[in-house]
Amino acid sequence: MMENGQRIRILDGSEANLRLLAEALASGNLVAIPTETVYGLAANALDEAACRRIFSVKGRPLIDPLIVHVTGPAHAEKLAFLNDMAVLLMEKFWPGPLTIVLKKRPHVPDLLSAGLPTVALRCPRHPLTRRLLQISGLALAAPSANRFGYVSPTRVEHVVAGLGERIDYVLNGGPCDIGLESTILGLADPEKPVLFRPGAISREVLSVALGRPVALPMPRETDAAPADAPGMLKRHYSPNTRVTLFDHGANLAFPASVGKKAAIVYFTRPSYETDVAGPAVFWLSESGRGEEAARNVFDLLRRLDGMGYEGIFIEKAPEGGIGDAINDRLTRAAAR
Ligand code: TXA
Ligand code: MG
Repeated sequence: MMENGQRIRILDGSEANLRLLAEALASGNLVAIPTETVYGLAANALDEAACRRIFSVKGRPLIDPLIVHVTGPAHAEKLAFLNDMAVLLMEKFWPGPLTIVLKKRPHVPDLLSAGLPTVALRCPRHPLTRRLLQISGLALAAPSANRFGYVSPTRVEHVVAGLGERIDYVLNGGPCDIGLESTILGLADPEKPVLFRPGAISREVLSVALGRPVALPMPRETDAAPADAPGMLKRHYSPNTRVTLFDHGANLAFPASVGKKAAIVYFTRPSYETDVAGPAVFWLSESGRGEEAARNVFDLLRRLDGMGYEGIFIEKAPEGGIGDAINDRLTRAAAR
């Protein structure tokens, strides 16, 4: 255990610690958990009071439903009505970064689904959280372990920085492998799969697996989220410093006024040294690999946010695959 002067205790994944955390969850406490995507703030999904605490600790509005983490398809079936398409995807992509939205069973608290007739289910791949799910025997509701609207946590220190005074435990699973939240696919109607949130498992890959096109949610005329995906707000994942995006590969000429007060983030490490008088230069990946950029993006946003820049200019990812998920998060971070 590490001491850090805050209420939170950082626990490593020993069997004794996992048992302690399983008991904490069973008695209604919250525990921050590592997953391959981002850290989650977990509670027993069937304990309504514990789930209510998630919303208050995060400062999250009750209209934004939670994802429930399970050990696999058999566990999922206790909470939702599965269909053939869902089972096919669970077999192919679980454990992994795919959340599937299905019709919920009546005993699943309405609080979890924000009153929708559906529930979002995911089977995470991180070995410590898989073990915790197994030991506790619980389904775990877990949104990302950050204050609502801020950048999602991909390292244990991000959880401590955001929630250290508000929760008792975080399970240290190291930095997250993927670094962006799971893909969310609506499959309540298996004839009409809908991509609610892009992630590491792309829309193209899901369409091929299902043998049918995957639709995007209805375009929005307002800043509000669509009714069937109430958490998908235009502004989200946002640092306090203003973020401005520019197109992939575009050469930006910075006005003199930007100068040293701004940070510029390229998608790939530039091969030349830039003008020392210009903005501070950063990059999302060494070699231009989308997976590497995804892993770094939230950590870099958090670090730059603490460095006092007047603005952060970020180059978008190339379109397609995980680039679409990166651009989705960057666009929300830049929204005003
Ligand atoms: O990778 C992830 O999915 C992470 C880790 C911790 O598993 N979790 C995560 O949770 O990103 P969160 O709360 O930050 O995002 C959950 C989003 C909600 O904002 C909402 O848009 C969508 O999932 N969601 C949850 N239940 C839903 C439902 N029944 N129908 C449609 N969308 C739903
Ligand atoms: Mg979140």
